[in-house]
Amino acid sequence: MKAVGVTEFGGPEALRVLELPVPEAGPGEIRIRVHAAGVNPVDAMVRRGEAFVSAAQPPYVPGMDAAGVVDQIGEDTDTDLAIGERVMAVAVVSGTHGAYAEHLVVPVESVVRIPPALSDMEAATLPMNGLTARMALDILQPPPGGTVAVIGAAGAVGGYAVQLATADGYRVVADAAPRDEQLVKELGADVIVPRGNDFAQLVRQHFPQGVDGLVDTAALAGIAAGAVRDGGRVATSAGGDSSGERGIVTQHTFVPNYAREHAKLDRLRQLAEEGRITPRVAQTLPAEQAPEAHRLMAAGGLRGRIVLIF
Ligand SMILES: NC(=O)c1ccc[n+]([C@@H]2O[C@H](COP(=O)([O-])OP(=O)(O)OC[C@H]3O[C@@H](n4cnc5c(N)ncnc54)[C@H](OP(=O)(O)O)[C@@H]3O)[C@@H](O)[C@H]2O)c1
Repeated sequence: MKAVGVTEFGGPEALRVLELPVPEAGPGEIRIRVHAAGVNPVDAMVRRGEAFVSAAQPPYVPGMDAAGVVDQIGEDTDTDLAIGERVMAVAVVSGTHGAYAEHLVVPVESVVRIPPALSDMEAATLPMNGLTARMALDILQPPPGGTVAVIGAAGAVGGYAVQLATADGYRVVADAAPRDEQLVKELGADVIVPRGNDFAQLVRQHFPQGVDGLVDTAALAGIAAGAVRDGGRVATSAGGDSSGERGIVTQHTFVPNYAREHAKLDRLRQLAEEGRITPRVAQTLPAEQAPEAHRLMAAGGLRGRIVLIF
């Protein structure tokens, strides 16, 4: 099968088209004929040898988000999915096991149907980032009707965090650069503050006691924790820490821990079906142009994901 990966870690140019054996689905597993693979920041870390490095010898195949059709069901696999059904999945990268490939084998818990109204490209932007946003909110555990602040709200994790928090009934305050204000408003944020280093002070103008929890997707937890009330929580997907400050607890998301949380993935499917979370595609490119996809991602400023077509 065709895959895209690295035989040597490096820059975007290190990504090559590879010919790899088609993997077989074992017990409890589903094989997907991948049509679309989302390109996420972690893929660049895999490419550079900074994430998911294991004892496996290269090549390494990045990719944590896949959409396509079921093309094999392993024996003793408890599923109501049928061959040919459109599905999306989260993949935990290991060696050549990643979503930048024509075929991907994943545990059945990591797979759900694609909502009929979504394209494969849109679906390939949802599982990993949606589960990360879910995990961030689960870390925060705000009280019913509580308040959540989101940094990086125009990004993939941040955007889903705004939409999931809204769906959960929380009041959401989010940051936005001027060009993103309309987008973040449409995502459902109740209050929007200008993006910048004075986030905490701006949030306090609207919530003088501080918010119950902060989702940080831009490694700003250290300076933004001032927005959080005493004893509140911070969930960061990008690093940084503010634990200890006024009893605030910071926890990092680690989405592989949610890769088999089928009910949570299925809830994302349901919310997408209801139009309450909205996957965003910035651009699609043929798989062969993965180096260009990584260059575009590194340049920043994308709104929505780049998706590789297999
Ligand atoms: N550990 C995990 O489980 C996990 C899972 C998923 C993602 N992540 C990590 O989480 C981070 C976010 O991922 P993502 O996919 O959401 O990235 P993304 O789509 O690029 O979103 C990041 C957002 O943050 C904004 N931003 C950057 N610097 C900022 C600043 N100083 N102030 C305010 N906003 C700023 C970006 O705006 P511009 O585009 O304008 O710069 C962008 O809108 C990445 O570091 C990713 O690797 C971790």
